[in-house]
Amino acid sequence: MSDPSKVSSASERVQIDLGERSYPIQIGSGLLGSPATWSGVPASSQALIVSNTTVAPLYAARLQQAIAARHRQIHVVSLPDGEEHKNWQVLNLIFDALLGKACDRKTVLYALGGGVVGDMTGFAAASYMRGVPFVQVPTTLLAQVDSSVGGKTAINHPLGKNMIGAFYQPQLVVCDLDTLASLPAREFSAGLAEVIKYGPIADMDFLSWIEANIDGLNQRDPALLAHAVRRSCEIKAWVVGQDEKESGLRAILNFGHTFGHAIETGLGYGQWLHGEAVGCGMVMALDLSHRLGLVDLAFVERITRLVHRAGLPIVGPVLGAQRYLELMQVDKKAQAGEIKFVVIDKPGSALVRSAPSELVAEVIDRCCCPR
Ligand code: NAD
Ligand code: GLY
Repeated sequence: MSDPSKVSSASERVQIDLGERSYPIQIGSGLLGSPATWSGVPASSQALIVSNTTVAPLYAARLQQAIAARHRQIHVVSLPDGEEHKNWQVLNLIFDALLGKACDRKTVLYALGGGVVGDMTGFAAASYMRGVPFVQVPTTLLAQVDSSVGGKTAINHPLGKNMIGAFYQPQLVVCDLDTLASLPAREFSAGLAEVIKYGPIADMDFLSWIEANIDGLNQRDPALLAHAVRRSCEIKAWVVGQDEKESGLRAILNFGHTFGHAIETGLGYGQWLHGEAVGCGMVMALDLSHRLGLVDLAFVERITRLVHRAGLPIVGPVLGAQRYLELMQVDKKAQAGEIKFVVIDKPGSALVRSAPSELVAEVIDRCCCPR
């Protein structure tokens, strides 16, 4: 594996290199309302801004104005807000809007919101008329550093998270850092989980930088945020550029997600935020890495401390080991019923492997009840 810390960090533009599906990620302040930001988006007769009832009142009018020169008609559809609405019924509202307005196959979809809106809009774009162009306009930290980049789109099923979806790349990702100012504190912390994730799996220098700057990040210092978003996107670009459809390497981006998805599904979508579940899931995956003899306890404690300082839970909900194991079998990494975990094999490096269920049960027992 080449060294992701060699990727340039001087630019405010990070490129996803995927041949004809390549696209830029623009990162900065004041991007949303500037027409120049959107100059690379295909001009079309119609466009649909997909947002939700929280984000649309804050930012849809500004976006609509900024893209006005590129599309003759711009419609807005506002979905109900929340992970519990990431399902077929709500996805259908996007198709209702597209078909109701007789949108053709050149119609551009803009996903304006967090990861839920982004994942659903991407899936709608992948399937409407077998594929229309779309643009990601992520407005949460989590979406800016992870979900808007790399083309994973999905909805949830009651039996498993993100189990129905497609790989479908956007034309452009625009991360306007100003939008993070209106994000509730709990959502901001959830985004930090995905930022922290990149350290133990790929870049120990970045991990040290996050540790040194976590107080400033918690206060949303603009310069620190710009670096955190850019570096996260660079690492994600580096991984996705090598393994777009997760035949191997890309699975490391799911560090903390096997336990995390079990928490989200087990409690019911929307109880714990996705980032909260990932934060706690990373602690559990590290505990497992330690029990497998891969990392020392000091490293587990180091990351646990950082997750805690980011305002995230480090103790999992008590669902029972059996229930966790059942839930983790409905995971895209599972093969022939065998659960696969992303573990840290040494600081800054991750791999995917199975683990004896007694060991996993020990992790659950230890991490899911207060010490
Ligand atoms: P979210 O989309 O639910 O957004 C969080 C909350 O913040 C929502 O209530 C939203 O309305 C609100 N919000 C968004 N932007 C705001 C702003 N600027 N100001 C005020 N409020 C704002 O959650 P999320 O954490 O962004 O994303 C989580 C989702 O992303 C999950 O469904 C997860 O599965 C998915 N995800 C996907 C990928 C991927 O690669 N596709 C990666 C990670 C996570
Ligand atoms: N968030 C995991 C991935 O994009 O692969």
